[in-house]
Amino acid sequence: MRRGLTGAAALAAALFACAAGAADIEAGRQKAAACAECHGPDGNSNDPAVPSLAGQPAQFISGQLFFFREEYRKDPKMSPAAKALSNSDMNDLAAYFASVRPAPPKHVTASGNEQRGIELTQKFRCVQCHSAGLQGQQHVPRIAGQQPEYLRAQLRGFKQRTRSDIDGYMTQMAQPLSDQEIEVLVDYIAGLRTAARAAAGGSR
Ligand code: HEC
Ligand code: HEC
Repeated sequence: MRRGLTGAAALAAALFACAAGAADIEAGRQKAAACAECHGPDGNSNDPAVPSLAGQPAQFISGQLFFFREEYRKDPKMSPAAKALSNSDMNDLAAYFASVRPAPPKHVTASGNEQRGIELTQKFRCVQCHSAGLQGQQHVPRIAGQQPEYLRAQLRGFKQRTRSDIDGYMTQMAQPLSDQEIEVLVDYIAGLRTAARAAAGGSR
């Protein structure tokens, strides 16, 4: 694990440096016009395979944009969208999307999976990092109410080590999950209530 950390730690250091700059929500709102075709109006995605950005912690958004721009995280659709962003663009976009109220989830959890989902998130301590209600904090994303196909692809990606992650924890967390547990977790988490962030641009 140590070997993988060096690069990620360097990126993380740069990330915190760029997160420190002043961010402008209004400028972010204007820059976000370029994101709407995929991430939906106001960052509430209508595509089950594309993540919603509304109400994510600002530090998480700016960090992921940085990772895409530096090609630490790659995706054929998202990588080109991050390529030309400056550090201040990333901070403005992050402040704006963090300030937007997330839409309630469209996904409805199958009744049998609710209790099993609660048990699995306790067993694997998902709440410990993703915070109460899985609403995210600092560099850890909100997963509650996130698009189901996207959640499934990420959990499989962490397990198969094709989705990069900042500190290696999430890759480690995904290793013991069976395919069936991933399905239950996805069905449960995608149907969870979303909450607005406490303060505009806050919960960095
Ligand atoms: C052409 C479609 C497209 C455009 C335009 C686009 N994105 Fe994305 N974005 C995606 C896809 C698809 C993913 C998921 C990638 C994956 O599966 O790893 C993504 C992922 C992300 C993530 C990571 C979210 C998470 O939960 O991990 C962030 C942050 C993000 N995009 C921000 C933006 C911003 C800000 C813009 C506008 C400047 C933008 N995107 C424009 C398609 C797009
Ligand atoms: C030790 C802390 C920790 C634990 C425990 C943890 N996570 Fe994570 N998780 C993270 C971090 C940090 C990220 C962001 C990784 C990155 O991209 O750098 C993340 C990312 C994710 C993502 C990707 C979301 C997105 O928008 O891209 C999913 C899905 C996820 N976690 C689900 C889970 C589930 C389900 C559990 C419990 C089985 C869990 N996590 C337990 C820290 C944790």
